[in-house]
Amino acid sequence: KHEPLVLGIETSCDETGVGIVRGHTLLADAVASSVEEHARFGGVVPEVASRAHLEAMVPTIERACDTAGIALRDVDAIAVTSGPGLAGALLVGVAAAKALALGLGKPIYGVNHLAAHVAVDQLEHGPLPEPCLALLVSGGHSSLLRITDVTVGVDPMGATIDDAAGEAFDKVARLLGLPFPGGPHIDRAARDGDSVAIDFPRGLSSRRDLERHRFDFSFSGLKTAVARWVEARERSGEPVPVNDVAASFQEAVCDVLVRKALDAASSEGIEDLLIGGGVAANSRLRAMAEERASRLGIRVRVPRPGLCTDNGAMVAALGAEMVARGRTPSALDLPADSSLPV
Ligand code: KG4
Ligand code: ZN
Repeated sequence: KHEPLVLGIETSCDETGVGIVRGHTLLADAVASSVEEHARFGGVVPEVASRAHLEAMVPTIERACDTAGIALRDVDAIAVTSGPGLAGALLVGVAAAKALALGLGKPIYGVNHLAAHVAVDQLEHGPLPEPCLALLVSGGHSSLLRITDVTVGVDPMGATIDDAAGEAFDKVARLLGLPFPGGPHIDRAARDGDSVAIDFPRGLSSRRDLERHRFDFSFSGLKTAVARWVEARERSGEPVPVNDVAASFQEAVCDVLVRKALDAASSEGIEDLLIGGGVAANSRLRAMAEERASRLGIRVRVPRPGLCTDNGAMVAALGAEMVARGRTPSALDLPADSSLPV
């Protein structure tokens, strides 16, 4: 059977990703990141991201083809993230994908970035269990999604009402004087800390909040609580126990994420939980999810960290699945849609 060879392009945020897959097999995953250009601003600057995508696009496509050992004309289809994401950044990827599709005479598939975060797991663990529940946590999104058919889309059950989980990690890291992006640094610092040293608040978890926001997240109150705690410590002249703050903060985030994800899965009778997005690399999140899920008979799938962060392989993986399932390609006037639901 001929497995589709698909090239995927991802530019929704600050990584220019070009991935190449054949069916469920990953052949290349080239990523150029502008994260260092954003570091001094403490967050992603849209204009800087768009320009960086433009500069990185052609070299990243070439690098992916070299790694995969293919020529562009070999591909069966082009897939591209059409949204959600930064409008200007998405436009660069969509324009590049259209140019390739038109020049090569191959079909183009516009894909949903969140669905791609889910589909990427096929490259590591084989066919996706459907239905499944996805917890997507990154610097740009924190969502609970129900997935019946990943090639059709995602059904949002809940999302953050303020900061994304990764954003909370980044902001708290900044408070603690750790570099951007802060997630990996908090993860590391927390290993030598006491996760019950400080009792930080669990957002949207009171009985009243649960009535309206059962599957939603809120991390800005937690961030403020950490800031107040650190300030009080500094005022008192005592040193800030960075490891304990990191561990206690991380515990609060992971506790809410895992509790709500498992509640959502149970309420839908879904037995497979998939965790994706940059924050899925968090060691505590993985361990806690596996431990609590196993008690409920729920299986957990987490792609390896390199596939969890934004990349082109996830877009190619979803594109290949669309080809395999006979989905109709997008039209060549496919728009970039920054406002797709998260
Ligand atoms: O998916 P991603 O690469 O880009 C988007 O934001 O879409 O996610 C990046 C986010 C950053 O906020 C980063 O701090 C966080 O993922 N992150 C982590 C870890 N590794 C990356 N957060 C917690 N623990 C980690 N080990
Ligand atoms: Zn993402």
